Amino acid sequence: MFSNKFGRLMLGLYGWKMSAVCGVVQSSAGRSGFSWTAVCKQRTLWLQRSTCLKSQHHTVPCHISARSASHTTVDPDEVRRFQSLASKWWDEQGEFAALHAMNDLRVPFIRDNLLSVHRARHPGRPLAGLRILDVGCGGGLLTEPLGRLGAKVLGIDPVEDSISTAQLHSSYDPDLCDGVSYRACTLEELSAEEEGGAEEPGAAQFDAVVASEVVEHLADLETFAFCCSHVLKPGGSLFITTINKTNLSYALGIVVAEQLLHIVPSGTHDWEKFISPEELERLLESNGFSVKSVEGMLYNPASGSWSWTNSTAINYALHAVKVRDDAQPDQTEDSSSHSEDAATHS
Ligand SMILES: C[S@@+](CC[C@H](N)C(=O)[O-])C[C@H]1O[C@@H](n2cnc3c(N)ncnc32)[C@H](O)[C@@H]1O
Repeated sequence: MFSNKFGRLMLGLYGWKMSAVCGVVQSSAGRSGFSWTAVCKQRTLWLQRSTCLKSQHHTVPCHISARSASHTTVDPDEVRRFQSLASKWWDEQGEFAALHAMNDLRVPFIRDNLLSVHRARHPGRPLAGLRILDVGCGGGLLTEPLGRLGAKVLGIDPVEDSISTAQLHSSYDPDLCDGVSYRACTLEELSAEEEGGAEEPGAAQFDAVVASEVVEHLADLETFAFCCSHVLKPGGSLFITTINKTNLSYALGIVVAEQLLHIVPSGTHDWEKFISPEELERLLESNGFSVKSVEGMLYNPASGSWSWTNSTAINYALHAVKVRDDAQPDQTEDSSSHSEDAATHS
């Protein structure tokens, strides 16, 4: 999904996507015997099944889907898939090249949104004093730069070998030894631990939770959203980057990359697990968040770089804030001083 090959494919698709949508495909698709009509039929069946599922669940809010019945975010197939890639995280030209490049957007996105609330007090380390949880951190591609900005960052991932890779890589940089740590666990496990902690039950720990390119790999988004809220301090920020659930993301991520050109193994993507910004917003708001911004992101495979775009049709970044509850005032010294900062900043 994140290889350069896939990126090149995306660029090509941009050239002919409109004709493809109109059913006038004259690309390699036709030459290889690929049938766009069959794909459209398959897609229609999927949509009908989704509609049917929703109508069966008409007595519950629409954001609560069949996914929420499991109460675990872990999809064993996803864990197996990432297990097989656990040694590849720091190959900048490899499977995760696009994630490396995405740091150019997502690190400033997280930093600047946090700085709009928390005043920087340490030159060169603007996020000093903040605790960030990086959910689904993989090899630590995003965890490390956030640590270099001064935050105390905990990276968690259910894939133990990815955590080992992340620990080994961060150990090469002495500047990270205080600020960055990793654990092989899930968000729900971490959340449950804090529930049983000696401090206030369910005490919120983090100023920010980051889940970048993760939610499309989870089994249960309801549990994810609930646990994010649970581990965040009131007023804390949630940052998500993910893939929209559109025809274009279906065509790129499922049909072309898997079924047509076999650039990624069949089954790598589950379009049903992609989520639109609107659905994600509903899910988060029902779990105590207020969504502050949603920005479209676009990968340019020719340059291997990302840029912001007005369209959220494929990739997007979202910033939400846990709605402050007056019954749960910030308790820590750091938090209260950050709250004052927020007041003076605005
Ligand atoms: C596409 S990678 C993104 C890694 C990292 N966030 C980044 O952007 O560099 C998706 C990550 O989600 C992790 N993951 C899969 N299921 C998860 C779960 N239930 N909870 C947390 N992380 C999970 C995978 O192991 C993998 O590391």
